[in-house]
Amino acid sequence: MSKNKTSTKQKSKANTPKGNTKQQAKSHKKADHYNDPNHNYLHYWNGRDYEHASEVIALSKLLGGKHFDHAVDVGGGYGRLSAVLTKYADKVTLAEPSQQQLDIAQDYLKDYPTVDIQLMQADDLKFDDASIDLVTVVRVLHHLPDPTAEFAEIARILKPGGYFFFEFANYANFKNRVKHIAKGKKLPLEPVDIRSEANRKEGDIAFVNHNPKTVRKQLAHAGLKVEKVLSVSNLRSPRIKKIVPHGGLLAIENLLQGSLANTYFGPSTVFLVKKPE
Ligand SMILES: C[S@@+](CC[C@H](N)C(=O)[O-])C[C@H]1O[C@@H](n2cnc3c(N)ncnc32)[C@H](O)[C@@H]1O
Repeated sequence: MSKNKTSTKQKSKANTPKGNTKQQAKSHKKADHYNDPNHNYLHYWNGRDYEHASEVIALSKLLGGKHFDHAVDVGGGYGRLSAVLTKYADKVTLAEPSQQQLDIAQDYLKDYPTVDIQLMQADDLKFDDASIDLVTVVRVLHHLPDPTAEFAEIARILKPGGYFFFEFANYANFKNRVKHIAKGKKLPLEPVDIRSEANRKEGDIAFVNHNPKTVRKQLAHAGLKVEKVLSVSNLRSPRIKKIVPHGGLLAIENLLQGSLANTYFGPSTVFLVKKPE
């Protein structure tokens, strides 16, 4: 059943839906962690040039040669990858539920006039049915133990033939597989809560890692098909990052992303997902 929604064609950057208190209350609840003034997500990226560049390589491997009318970066934070997406799409919407992230984005994206900034939750995307040809979700799934509603919403807004570039923390990575084998345990198919005991007790935002087999099934349930897989940030280890120079790390990463994909080797998995025509 079609669920057409009104497009949010706002030119202004910080599009906080003033007066829409219901939406604001819901967004703030989900985005509390990223609205905490003591937690500046921009600073989290200091010293993580390798991880950032690995994701940029993955974007170029999967989207290179394609061009889109309108990309939506769902849970895009302060726009770290929205900026990169301007290479691949005429228009980019940064759709993010944390006002603090959007405030940082105002400055971070000041030289990217084709990026529109919107306060939005992944399960309530303010776009018409079949209106978007690229959706990206990167480093968001760990906050969504059950992404059923979010996947259905992404499937709704995607045009037939549209793409979904999707990164998530992979519980079935090589290190975890070895640990489970050593303990004679099977890898769980359910999401695994990786919060500390203290954060769990405080009711902090969800932090889970997912099993790619389960994620594939959840995507299929939403009518979405995985076309390509990459294994990303394969060399994420403080020791390796210390020994190997940045250029060397990226050259090796570039080789490994495709070759290790089907074994889900790395801590981060990227799926290129397509909505059938
Ligand atoms: C780790 S950050 C990643 C930001 C960005 N994608 C990046 O890779 O730089 C996680 C982001 O997910 C957003 N987020 C959390 N729950 C969300 C939800 N239900 N819908 C949309 N975004 C959400 C947070 O506000 C935060 O900006």
